[in-house]
Amino acid sequence: MGDRDQLQATVDSLVQAGKGILAADESSPTIAKRFKAIGVEPTEENRRAYRSLLLGTPGLGAFISGVILYEETLGQRSDDGTPLPELVARQGIVPGIKVDAGKIALAHAPGDEITQGLDGLAKRLGDYKEQGARFAKWRAVYNVSDTLPSRLAIEANADALARYAAICHNEGVVPIVEPEVLMDGGHTLERCAEVTEAVLHEVFAALHSHRVVLEHMLLKPSMVVAGKKQAQQAPVAEVSAQTVRVLRRCVPAAVPGIFFLSGGQTPAEATVHLDAMNRLAPQPWGLSFSYGRALQEPVLQAWKGQAVNARSAQDALLERARLNGAACEGRYDPAMEAAGRQRPAK
Ligand code: 13P
Repeated sequence: MGDRDQLQATVDSLVQAGKGILAADESSPTIAKRFKAIGVEPTEENRRAYRSLLLGTPGLGAFISGVILYEETLGQRSDDGTPLPELVARQGIVPGIKVDAGKIALAHAPGDEITQGLDGLAKRLGDYKEQGARFAKWRAVYNVSDTLPSRLAIEANADALARYAAICHNEGVVPIVEPEVLMDGGHTLERCAEVTEAVLHEVFAALHSHRVVLEHMLLKPSMVVAGKKQAQQAPVAEVSAQTVRVLRRCVPAAVPGIFFLSGGQTPAEATVHLDAMNRLAPQPWGLSFSYGRALQEPVLQAWKGQAVNARSAQDALLERARLNGAACEGRYDPAMEAAGRQRPAK
């Protein structure tokens, strides 16, 4: 298969009606934080056990088309010796890989951050591909205040995202471009909308400059929401209308799919917001999910590091995936949450 055909095949496998992506690519320090909250030691074995559980969930392929893995996971095996990327692929799910090396302070821009990891990226992508990865993810973050992010941060992060996407295309890997406008802080929804619009305009300008073929990439944006320190979140109708308004202004129709991150929303909020967007008029691109916390929080709570809880933890994942799958088609009803909780224990 030529590179173009390979990229198209990966895009077609990822962008499917009623399906989204599971983000299971937390770096070791981040997964340690999640484990600490449930009293689990952050050892490599616990990470392997937890991720084997997630990826081995029976039936997951009905609602999940791709999983983003962390580098360590690519080389790990399930209890029966199956490489974890293969466990994923067996369910008809495409394995992907987080390739950025995290964020650092942006020099000469107090309060702003820049994502690193471009050096040696082409070589790493070749290795990841051999281990089964077909798509990649790079996350840029933007802190929000009355003055942040600066123009410099918006331009520097857009350039890094576009360079990453171009390198992925060269290596036959589909890039997920993730500009995350952070929910932390006390900003209003209007300020979030203003920042998100500026960020997305710059990202697509940079993608154009770097000659990235938009048909072969996916966008993973944050939703337009009020900051976490606001007394309450904006109404669902406002979040959905403002998010879609900004996306329609900035994202060319050639982009095949938009997969939102959850960014600190509760699992139910992330689902109801996605559902509300999909109930608006048809959009040029599919609107789906690529959630980390909003899919995994109930799983971690059910698991608590105990092998005996593995089955109910998998049930919790399948349930959230099913609800978000319904939200992708505007078929979610909050009453479905209660129905899920009342299922008899297996
Ligand atoms: P959240 O859904 O928890 O924001 O995670 C998605 C992700 O991949 C962040 O990079």
